[in-house]
Amino acid sequence: MAAHSLLIFSLVIYATAFSINLSHADPRTDYVMRMCGKVHVQNVSNYFKYYSNITDYMQDEIYRNKFAFKDVGEPPDRLYVLAQCMDDLTNEECAMCFTQISTLIPSCFPSTGGRVYFDGCFIRAENYSFYREVLGPEDTKRCSGIVNKRQEFSVAVDEVLSQMLLKAPSFRGFASMHETSNGISAYGMASCWKILDRDLCSNCLSEAVASALSCIPSTEARVLNAGCFLRYSDTSFANDSNGGDYSEEEVFSYVTYIMGVGLICVFAIGIGVCVGKLSYRRKIRLKQSKETEDLVLEERVQYMQFKYATLDTATQSFSDSNRLGRGGFGEVFKGTLPDGREIAIKRLYISRKFRVQEIRYEMDIIGRAQHKNLAWKHFQSSTVQEIIDKSMAIEDAEEIQRVVQIGLLCTQESPNLRPTMTEVVQMLRKEGVELPSPSKPPFTDELMELNYLGSFDRHHPSGLST
Ligand SMILES: *[C@@H]1O[C@H](CO)[C@@H](O)[C@H](O)[C@H]1NC(C)=O
Ligand SMILES: *[C@@H]1O[C@H](CO)[C@@H](O)[C@H](O)[C@H]1NC(C)=O
Ligand SMILES: *[C@@H]1O[C@H](CO)[C@@H](O)[C@H](O)[C@H]1NC(C)=O
Ligand SMILES: *[C@@H]1O[C@H](CO)[C@@H](O)[C@H](O)[C@H]1NC(C)=O
Ligand SMILES: *[C@@H]1O[C@H](CO)[C@@H](O)[C@H](O)[C@H]1NC(C)=O
Repeated sequence: MAAHSLLIFSLVIYATAFSINLSHADPRTDYVMRMCGKVHVQNVSNYFKYYSNITDYMQDEIYRNKFAFKDVGEPPDRLYVLAQCMDDLTNEECAMCFTQISTLIPSCFPSTGGRVYFDGCFIRAENYSFYREVLGPEDTKRCSGIVNKRQEFSVAVDEVLSQMLLKAPSFRGFASMHETSNGISAYGMASCWKILDRDLCSNCLSEAVASALSCIPSTEARVLNAGCFLRYSDTSFANDSNGGDYSEEEVFSYVTYIMGVGLICVFAIGIGVCVGKLSYRRKIRLKQSKETEDLVLEERVQYMQFKYATLDTATQSFSDSNRLGRGGFGEVFKGTLPDGREIAIKRLYISRKFRVQEIRYEMDIIGRAQHKNLAWKHFQSSTVQEIIDKSMAIEDAEEIQRVVQIGLLCTQESPNLRPTMTEVVQMLRKEGVELPSPSKPPFTDELMELNYLGSFDRHHPSGLST
């Protein structure tokens, strides 16, 4: 596949998907540098296939998050790709930048990979997981031939570089700023790849700042490291109207959520929700004091957040061997935390704001409902009575069975499959009525959707017709 056909293909996708005004934006597609690897892949035709597969996927992802990474294929030719835009680009500009830069990697093949730097975006491909690499032997700098020997300029550059080094690691890896010394200004931009945590970003940028300082008195310098990009200039080049503030949706897109501690426990999710009609009351309460609730929720959810790097390590970079399953909303991986706890991690592909709130609620519910006596297995093998605490004087085992079944209905993977609160209340009231069979809860296996199709029609739940 030639670079040309890739370009045309991408442009078509781009134009139809976003229909934006190409003449308006500035995606800063100025070419800075391309580096290609020296070792060759074993089977280059597979590699091309993987690459177009990955970039197809990334088109969407990069438009939403201005950042994407993915790997496909079998070693030794498994292909890993990471792409990112500078944060000051708009989503449309970022998609344009990616469309162009992604056409330049295939010209490195049959090398195992390469990196391309534009002023507005970056892409890298390799046959190994390089995602957390900060520095590499190919790292380099570009200093302009034009110089400004005034002391004020050097002072301003020095100042802007050290400010960026302080700021960027704490501001999601990005800083765009300028400093003025006696009327002479220097402009700077620093960007770490979003997969790096604060410390790695800091490492990368401190090396980059050292390189950039050695370019002075050049009026323009760019540092191209494995984990970050840094630039200073005597003229303004950033789109200052976008930089700086990060939307909640972006933050949440990068965070991967722990959906439960211990695989089996996860299946207990909704029992706690449905039992005692607690959740119904909760919903009413929610309406009455939404703000307070949100605050509390925010706090609780904090405890379930992990650094990306922690999850990356726990799952061996989300390796295939750790993958437990794939559903419509993302993939689930098994992982081990440094303290030995086994965890299940769901990698969600989300971005829209309204879904962030939904996900928080879901995490809250999951986080509070970890009942060690439960699994889906008991329901399947009709041994639900075994999960009842023996110390409780239970008169009506059948009712418990019923509540468990409703709980399982509430915890089906897709929110669309779950009964509404009104339906739940109906189910809890009408004792004689037969309940629909729940599909498997998340994380068991990929047959979930098939089970569902065979057993439960949401719009006409068999037990609830009037
Ligand atoms: C695109 O931008 C150009 C230049 O600003 C403008 O003249 C043109 O009307 C725009 N086209 C659309 C479809 O918005
Ligand atoms: C700069 O950012 C603003 C706000 O997002 C956007 O409307 C504008 O088109 C951008 N300008 C350029 C030149 O990219
Ligand atoms: C590359 O892999 C494909 C599919 O796995 C195979 O059909 C093809 O023969 C391989 N080519 C080489 C040169 O090994
Ligand atoms: C390419 O992507 C599709 C859909 O995302 C996936 O099903 C397929 O397995 C991928 N191909 C390879 C070679 O991984
Ligand atoms: C990458 O490709 C080279 C050359 O084919 C091979 O020697 C190396 O083992 C590959 N790396 C991985 C991690 O598979």
